[in-house]
Amino acid sequence: SRHKAAIAGNHDRVTVQLYARDVGSGTPLVLLHGFPLSSAMWLAQREGLAGRFRVITPDLRGFGGSVLGDDEPSIDAMADDVARACRGIGVRRAVIGGLSMGGYVAMALCRRHPDLVLGLVLAATRAAADTAPVRENRLRQAERLEIEGTTRVLADEVLPGLVGPTTYRQRALIYGRVRGLVQATPPHAAAWAQRAMAGRDDAFGTLRGVRAPALVMVGDEDELATEDEARAMADALPNAELLVIPRAGHLCAVEQPDLFNQAVAEFAAALARTAH
Ligand code: MLT
Repeated sequence: SRHKAAIAGNHDRVTVQLYARDVGSGTPLVLLHGFPLSSAMWLAQREGLAGRFRVITPDLRGFGGSVLGDDEPSIDAMADDVARACRGIGVRRAVIGGLSMGGYVAMALCRRHPDLVLGLVLAATRAAADTAPVRENRLRQAERLEIEGTTRVLADEVLPGLVGPTTYRQRALIYGRVRGLVQATPPHAAAWAQRAMAGRDDAFGTLRGVRAPALVMVGDEDELATEDEARAMADALPNAELLVIPRAGHLCAVEQPDLFNQAVAEFAAALARTAH
């Protein structure tokens, strides 16, 4: 498809239009999913928050119901997709929340589309760029995904780190759901996203310039994004609070939805009050 796009020229490129679930009414809350999942991971947020907020959960390009398009892998392209999707549904300002990869996209939105960001929620994510071994591992996984055409490498190497030991031991249903979401990921989208994440820059400078209030969250059992990394982000942001969620691993929103939702609801409600 890259070949075709090159011949046809820019005007024939596929403009990616994200599929987004959009429920409830009130202050818009845009939640960006982690890797290698989809908007399905926000089930408990749609259920728990749509009574008070307009909860918009897009599938990032290639995932869930959204096409991958022809662009080179980049987090910035994913952020531009989200900004375009918001404009398309008349959302000018929103609380932007992202978990892990969704957090990378949320930080890119802060840099590229700051006017959209009424408030920022960063969960289980990090602002530093990848170290060389992490980057190489992503590129190796991307190659396996493309060559094998299956999600096996994700099930073997990524899935085990997504939930914490408490969820793994005590909540088999949640782990099973997460495994199902990982298996449903299109391999080419996962490869593209791994390349996009491998290419992202350090975002601490962006965080230092964020004017909007922010909430940084991390599970105390998260080994992919640590409490120290969360604290460093909260320190860089001019106006942020930090919440450590107990008995949660990387997917804190899925593992401890009530605590996650309560924190987001309080944060967004306070913002909505001061914005008027
Ligand atoms: C995620 O959950 O989105 C991933 O852990 C992000 C990453 O691989 O850095």
